[in-house]
Amino acid sequence: MRKNPTCEKIRKRRTIRKYLQKAVPEEALLKCVDAARVSPSGGNLQPLRYVIVNDPKLLKQVFSTLSWAVYLPDYYPTEEEMPRAYIVLLLDKNGRTPIHDASIAAMSISMVAYDEGLGSCMLASVDREKLREILKVPESLAVALVVALGYPAENPVVEPVKDGAINYWLDENGVLHVPKRDLKDIIRWNSY
Ligand SMILES: Cc1cc2nc3c(=O)[nH]c(=O)nc-3n(C[C@H](O)[C@H](O)[C@H](O)COP(=O)(O)O)c2cc1C
Repeated sequence: MRKNPTCEKIRKRRTIRKYLQKAVPEEALLKCVDAARVSPSGGNLQPLRYVIVNDPKLLKQVFSTLSWAVYLPDYYPTEEEMPRAYIVLLLDKNGRTPIHDASIAAMSISMVAYDEGLGSCMLASVDREKLREILKVPESLAVALVVALGYPAENPVVEPVKDGAINYWLDENGVLHVPKRDLKDIIRWNSY
């Protein structure tokens, strides 16, 4: 297959869970949310609102609400590796396709972040009530997803799924391997 630049970028983006302790430019964060803003939305209802977090005190507090890497209980960022910004995706009650909208927006954020040299991690494992309190989110909005951001301090690699095992794993050098299913195993043409 001839290479497609968009596909190549999507292929290279990996979830990053460990970050350099270097501030993320506000302009990059705004670009991420601007891409989310113009992303597809069911019925074009645009039910998402965004809280950008970059205040150092709040960064620590938000960090305390997150859970990392379900398959590797010992693989999580320490305080010296924690994200340097968050974009918190909030949903109002008007969405037609709220989860889809939030997921698409999160991908837009991740791809713009990637273009800006930033790593990202989408997080659904969030203590939502604690986060609501920390960020003073009104009851009218639900916390959908958190996207953690920062300059990468790890370099995960993608590899083919072997023997059906989709668990990501760490090698002896501390490199995270992320198995992805093969195209031929997930596609049918015209009927299943
Ligand atoms: C909707 C969604 C929620 C996720 N939630 C978490 C999470 O709570 N914690 C975490 O460490 N990773 C989370 N991830 C990251 C996935 O673990 C990651 O995408 C997966 O392992 C594949 O790695 P890749 O993004 O590098 O392809 C989430 C991803 C998605 C799409």
